[in-house]
Amino acid sequence: MQTHVQECSPALSVYYDGACPVCSREIAVYKNSAGGEAIQWIDATSCDLGALQADSKDLTRETALARMHVRKANGELVSGAAAFVAMWEQLPKFAMLARLARIPGAMLVLELGYRAFLRLRPLWRKAPADVATRIAPSATFPLELTRELRTDHAGETGAVMIYRGILAVSRDAEVRAFANHHLATEQEHLSLLEALDPPVLRSRLLPLWRLSGWLTGAVPALFGPRAVFATIKAVETFVDQHYADQLAMIDRIDPSRAQPQLAALRHMLVRCQQDEVAHRDDAAARLSKPPGRLLRLWTSIVDIGSHQAVKVCRYV
Ligand SMILES: [Fe+2]
Ligand SMILES: [Fe+2]
Repeated sequence: MQTHVQECSPALSVYYDGACPVCSREIAVYKNSAGGEAIQWIDATSCDLGALQADSKDLTRETALARMHVRKANGELVSGAAAFVAMWEQLPKFAMLARLARIPGAMLVLELGYRAFLRLRPLWRKAPADVATRIAPSATFPLELTRELRTDHAGETGAVMIYRGILAVSRDAEVRAFANHHLATEQEHLSLLEALDPPVLRSRLLPLWRLSGWLTGAVPALFGPRAVFATIKAVETFVDQHYADQLAMIDRIDPSRAQPQLAALRHMLVRCQQDEVAHRDDAAARLSKPPGRLLRLWTSIVDIGSHQAVKVCRYV
């Protein structure tokens, strides 16, 4: 618990999100600057509920984690831009920022900037167990697996869009037959994931995965069949490994395969993985000659993009 309880009443109490590395670093700067010792610093992720609700019941943990809050000496609770200004007023080094915030319109800009930051924060924020439990109250899969299944759902959504992107652009008969055949399998994978019980968490960035999937199919389709087959080979090589890692995870969680729900999930993932391997081999067999330099650069970008998308998807 990162609280700094004052012997006499603090000038302010600052409630911040200690699970966000950016927030924690920023708070550490304020805390260590002159005037910081007169403020009570409360990490809302780990403090007792009593520390949030010492004087009144107006602050829940959920609210405190959603935005930065400050309680002034008179008991008034403010949040967001107003909370920053109240804090800066107490710290001589940052008092200039508090004065700038009084310029007409400055508070609105500050508040909008803070809201934009909050939207991006899940990208790097750690997910403490209690937060994850709130996200998926009915989930009975272990947390690490729940995160992986969210990447699978986003991945299969992207896979459907890859083949739609190819079909939107290519007029080549072989490419179109190939894409139609694989599209049907990817739609089936997506349906299997959507039918899972407990339900799979959806990535909040699904529109982005749809768009990037569509472009991953449409862009190579502009350059012809070889570019399409090389792209699919690269994507499916990645997906094969992705599913293999998850199967290994399930085997670690339930080595004796005693849990029926995990056994059923394992069976489903094995089936998906086999299809992905078939897609990869089908694409590889249609590549008449090895990809050139430009195509190798493109497939490296696709591979790096897939790895990064999975990392983001585990949390967002
Ligand atoms: Fe798939
Ligand atoms: Fe596939």
